[in-house]
Amino acid sequence: MGGTSVDGNLAAAGLAGQFDDLAELYEEFSRQPFRQELEFPSVLAALGDVSGLRVLDFGCGSGVYTRKLAGLGAAVTGVDESRGMVAYAQRREQDDPVGARYLAGPVPAELAGTMDVVLGVYVLPYTTTIAELTGLCRTAADALRPGGVFVTLPIHPRFHRDGDYYAPYGFRLRESERNDGSPVVLDLRALGHEATVTARYWTEDTLNAVLGEVGFETVDWLPHRTSAAETDVSAMAYFRPYLSVPHAALLRCVKGKARL
Ligand SMILES: C[S@@+](CC[C@H](N)C(=O)[O-])C[C@H]1O[C@@H](n2cnc3c(N)ncnc32)[C@H](O)[C@@H]1O
Repeated sequence: MGGTSVDGNLAAAGLAGQFDDLAELYEEFSRQPFRQELEFPSVLAALGDVSGLRVLDFGCGSGVYTRKLAGLGAAVTGVDESRGMVAYAQRREQDDPVGARYLAGPVPAELAGTMDVVLGVYVLPYTTTIAELTGLCRTAADALRPGGVFVTLPIHPRFHRDGDYYAPYGFRLRESERNDGSPVVLDLRALGHEATVTARYWTEDTLNAVLGEVGFETVDWLPHRTSAAETDVSAMAYFRPYLSVPHAALLRCVKGKARL
């Protein structure tokens, strides 16, 4: 795949419609050291032991986490509104079955209250209004049993102002301003694949308020980590800039016992 610019399609397709043709890019991106040795260990640590748990991978994309969590013994359902992404994930499951289930479209109502864990990696940035952000967080909360956990990665409200800061990790960010809903343009590059997608910025106060409003009683902002050894000088030199100023926040939210 050469360069893909999807901005022109956004008005018709919505921000999530950007992803129909990007499954291969996200698969390639998932093989990069940034995801393998930093993002995946950080997210898996935030989730804890998922063996035997019912997990919804909300905005599963090409199924990178769906497969990973199925391999760790979870009963995982991946849901994504991009049919292109789900078709790709289903083909992967057919070719190399790990027991992951995929659904295209909205989260089905019958899943309400059934999940121990909802994972939403890089999904909140693709809402465009506070009403949409609230709706997406409410969908995650509704899918969970009381006491269930939602782990999600919005754009970090304090990501680095130099967009090239993240170039060593395979992407660049371009922003205009830092208000709720402000566009943040991501230029992604992975092993010959490149694409531009438009995400949205949400402030820390808004994220905390919205997550609280939909029923999460705790919202913890966790640090990222790397699986690289502290003694691996070159790996630590590579990952430290990201660890000190991450582009994504890592939130672990616990659903309250009382429904709001
Ligand atoms: C940046 S991709 C991330 C995919 C995957 N979570 C990963 O980490 O590789 C964001 C995905 O969220 C999906 N998405 C965005 N809004 C959604 C919504 N409201 N419901 C379901 N999927 C959504 C998009 O279609 C896209 O596949």
